Amino acid sequence: MQIHATIAGLRAARAAVGREQRVAVVPTMGNLHAGHISLMRQAREHADKVIATIFVNRLQFRPGEDFEKYPRTFAADCAQLEAAGVDHLFAPTEAEMYPQPQTYHVEPPAEQANILDGEFRPGHFRGMATVVLKLLNITQPHVALFGKKDYQQLMIIRNMVAEFNLPIQIIGGETVRAEDGLALSSRNGYLSAAERAEAPRLFQVLSRLVAAVRRSKDSDVARLEQDAMTELQTHGWVPEYVALRKKLDLQCAPVHDSGLVVLAAARLGSTRLIDNLEV
Ligand code: PAF
Repeated sequence: MQIHATIAGLRAARAAVGREQRVAVVPTMGNLHAGHISLMRQAREHADKVIATIFVNRLQFRPGEDFEKYPRTFAADCAQLEAAGVDHLFAPTEAEMYPQPQTYHVEPPAEQANILDGEFRPGHFRGMATVVLKLLNITQPHVALFGKKDYQQLMIIRNMVAEFNLPIQIIGGETVRAEDGLALSSRNGYLSAAERAEAPRLFQVLSRLVAAVRRSKDSDVARLEQDAMTELQTHGWVPEYVALRKKLDLQCAPVHDSGLVVLAAARLGSTRLIDNLEV
């Protein structure tokens, strides 16, 4: 695997890829786990050359969030990417990505970016979309892969790529879970042993909500969402939202609609966890 710290280096490698060859990119913030590696392997099914990126993007963190303590495990990440057969790793410094303060931004529409996670992390999706557009411009892939665990992020990226007419296919990879159901996340490493034992409840609560919606198309959605929040609260969580939404745009939808997803975010101690399940 070739490692590129500069945009010029990555672009030279990209230019050396044959015109007939397809290129996939998998953007990450590092601290890779099996979920990321499954995206790398999927990328290989769609492309001749796979580029991974590692960049912890300050723009998508709010003051007081975990930008400083976000786990940086570069050597271990490289070993995993090598083993997964990734061809190129683009791992720029902040100075390389933002040589001067970024003054142009991607501003996703409020109805997509200020709901759910965006309500609790104002500005997050603006920072995320801005860096993703930069990464797509730098790597110029045919295909880009993102995990469905960040469902709202995936929706916003799909819409951005469509509205800016980028000739890039966006693929969402299924969430990879631990045996007890907990969705894999770099932030799981923040959990204490007791919190780690409690953490699968988020998945269990969502699974029960999905089962209830599938069972009865007359379900009282507000009641189901509230029951889920209450169960989390009873077990020491601080839930931010549990919501049944349309997959396509994450807007509210009647329970009898097809194409629904339930999403949740909740804090366990000082760790914020998110998860979702398609109905
Ligand atoms: O999902 C992530 O790891 C990040 O939000 C992304 C897409 C790499 C942008 O920084």
